[in-house]
Amino acid sequence: MKKYVSELLMIPGPTPVPNQIALAAAKDMMSHRGGVFKKLMLDLTAKLQTLLQTKNEVVVLSASGTGGMEAAVSSCFCRGDKVLIAAVGNFGKRWIKLAKVYGLEAEVLEYAYGQAVDPSAVKALLAKDTEKEIKGVFFQMNETSTAVLNDVEEIAKVVKAHGALIVVDAISGFLASDLKIDEWGLDVVIAGSQKAFMLPPGLAVVAVSEKAKKAIETSDLPHFYLSLKAALKQAAEGQTPYTPAVSLIYQLVESVNLLAEEGLDSIFDRHERLMKAVRSALRSLGLKLLNENDGTASRAVTAVYPPGNLNADEIRKKMKDDWGIALANGQDELKGKIFRIGHLGFIDPKDVLAVIACLEIVLSQLGMPGIQWGKGVQAAQNVLAKGD
Ligand SMILES: Cc1ncc(COP(=O)(O)O)c(C=O)c1O
Repeated sequence: MKKYVSELLMIPGPTPVPNQIALAAAKDMMSHRGGVFKKLMLDLTAKLQTLLQTKNEVVVLSASGTGGMEAAVSSCFCRGDKVLIAAVGNFGKRWIKLAKVYGLEAEVLEYAYGQAVDPSAVKALLAKDTEKEIKGVFFQMNETSTAVLNDVEEIAKVVKAHGALIVVDAISGFLASDLKIDEWGLDVVIAGSQKAFMLPPGLAVVAVSEKAKKAIETSDLPHFYLSLKAALKQAAEGQTPYTPAVSLIYQLVESVNLLAEEGLDSIFDRHERLMKAVRSALRSLGLKLLNENDGTASRAVTAVYPPGNLNADEIRKKMKDDWGIALANGQDELKGKIFRIGHLGFIDPKDVLAVIACLEIVLSQLGMPGIQWGKGVQAAQNVLAKGD
């Protein structure tokens, strides 16, 4: 049995971590209450605002992405508030669970796996709310479990017309494609460190609008550690309410510098190219995608059914055992029924070519009839070489 020095992590987060970012964690520890750290935090938040295309205040929470989601729910609403949740997968369901925990009355628009939120359905539902009882609308920018990209701009338009707070989980979608927080009027946007930031897990970045800040002032839900109110108050001074994950913050500084140097257009473009290459390769091999709609295809991950009577878990196991390539399982009811190829963050074209080449071998060894080696690779090459 071969031994692999490192594995190629083709899951939708955590993504591989570039060396410069990994090494930043080894920097000397410093006092999080000192002047150097304060300056570092103020510089970092300014750079995050640029990357997030927002003038809204940005806070960095020492928590995984879900901590950012929980902070949004518990900090911006009041007991018994009505909210609307548009859920297209497992992470949409997380909004439902959070709303329940905090006693919010959730109206839910739920979609079949692979489908995106229909903004006109959101509009129709909000139109019925003539008393403006719905205080917030929650959804995902990118639903990682089903590889679906929602049309944030269109959803935001209809919510804006109603007046509810727009709360977007952009944990896996942020930076993989465009997200204009200010232009689209998004109130609370959450990003996670282990995705396009290419960091280890452990930080949630949350952008908060002036309107959301007003809601935070009047919120009466219980919270302590995950308090946007406390985080915002301290952030103005380049501080955090409690001891932050200092090493992760060093890494985030390195990440935003690298990403700023690359530029947003290039970041969006590389994610789109990898997505197109993967989709084209899988289709040319005759595989069925969970989300066949190219218009709503996730830039971060592609979900695919195993061909014929092959088993998704066996495919993933063989990819891992024989080739050192980690692919993601399906989630929820899709567990074992699909597999997912992550292509966000520190993943590049040669990684995609390697995955497709190895997948061709694995599929044929597992007995996929009629598979032609090189067909998927060639389809990916055609996208990656031309860049169209
Ligand atoms: C869309 C989305 N929302 C929420 C989460 C949860 O983030 P975390 O696992 O960092 O808490 C994830 C993680 O994969 C995600 O992809």
